[in-house]
Amino acid sequence: MRAGLCSLTIFVFMGYNLRAIEISKTYRRDSMKSKMLVPSKELVQDAKAGGYAVGAFNAVNMEAAQAIFAAAEREKSPLIIQVTQTTISYTEPEELAAVIHTLAERTTVPVALHLDHGRSFRLTMRFLKMGFTSVMIDGSLQEDGKTPRSYEENVAVTKKVIEAARSLGVSVEAEIGRLGQIGEDSGIALTDVDEAVKFVEDVKFDGTGIDMLAVAIGTRHGLFKGKPVIRSDRVKELSEALDMPLVMHGGTGVPDEDVRKGIEAGICKVNIDTQIRVAFYDAIRDVVMEKEKEYAAADAAGDPKKYDIRKILAPGRDAMTDAIAEKMRLFGSAGKA
Ligand code: 13P
Repeated sequence: MRAGLCSLTIFVFMGYNLRAIEISKTYRRDSMKSKMLVPSKELVQDAKAGGYAVGAFNAVNMEAAQAIFAAAEREKSPLIIQVTQTTISYTEPEELAAVIHTLAERTTVPVALHLDHGRSFRLTMRFLKMGFTSVMIDGSLQEDGKTPRSYEENVAVTKKVIEAARSLGVSVEAEIGRLGQIGEDSGIALTDVDEAVKFVEDVKFDGTGIDMLAVAIGTRHGLFKGKPVIRSDRVKELSEALDMPLVMHGGTGVPDEDVRKGIEAGICKVNIDTQIRVAFYDAIRDVVMEKEKEYAAADAAGDPKKYDIRKILAPGRDAMTDAIAEKMRLFGSAGKA
């Protein structure tokens, strides 16, 4: 009798659970109309045809990834979310990739997951294994990110990555010329038109080549001191000679007018990292300063203090979302998803 009751309970419980699973599957199907991850080639080609650019935003942690997806949803914008290999010094990229895959399942806009500045074949393969749909092989510099590679070395490593990525349908971005960082005085070289044309031909593997090219046109990674000189004339020459989507790196601090001119001239992907981190930082600094006052008052009154770090991180995430949404409107990708 007892055993019968027990199995009846299990049966009712299982039936109930199966129904719950069915309901949740239906809910996911109906409400999450995810288009899942796409190769970035599709997004930049649409941008080229439509005369706008897709923003590529760097995610360094869960909050940044959430902000990037939230902005894309809010603006109904196609999105490239990217992770740079230096993230390895902060977190295992597999952990971050798992967060991004989960967010991608729930989004309604087309999203590409891109490796930013992959510097070696071995590392690029690690990101391909994580389900990235797009990779950049930056063959302009050695693995240390400082020492220049020769033209021949750049061609060899780029070609190897194209060979591996092709079979998986993964898009490839390469770089010719050298952008450099703010604060670095050496190693900067504007992209030469003839060299770029030769590079795009030389890296072809079995007839197929890169899907987009990062070009050095006066931008640098990081915060500019003073007004940068952005060579949209060079973008136009490159775009006419190559007829391929071009990428503006170092989008932080580039005046809106120069961004617009660059897009008109042929930029189809704009990378932004520092500027959204600044938005995050400024917001959490303000909250921390307020909290300091609150905690001092609590100390004086002998009251308990709550160190709820979510209350610090959430305003940072919100400020980052706003900063990204603003860029999507500037790039013209808002409303294109
Ligand atoms: P910024 O940090 O200057 O925005 O550059 C981002 C970038 O180009 C990443 O590849």
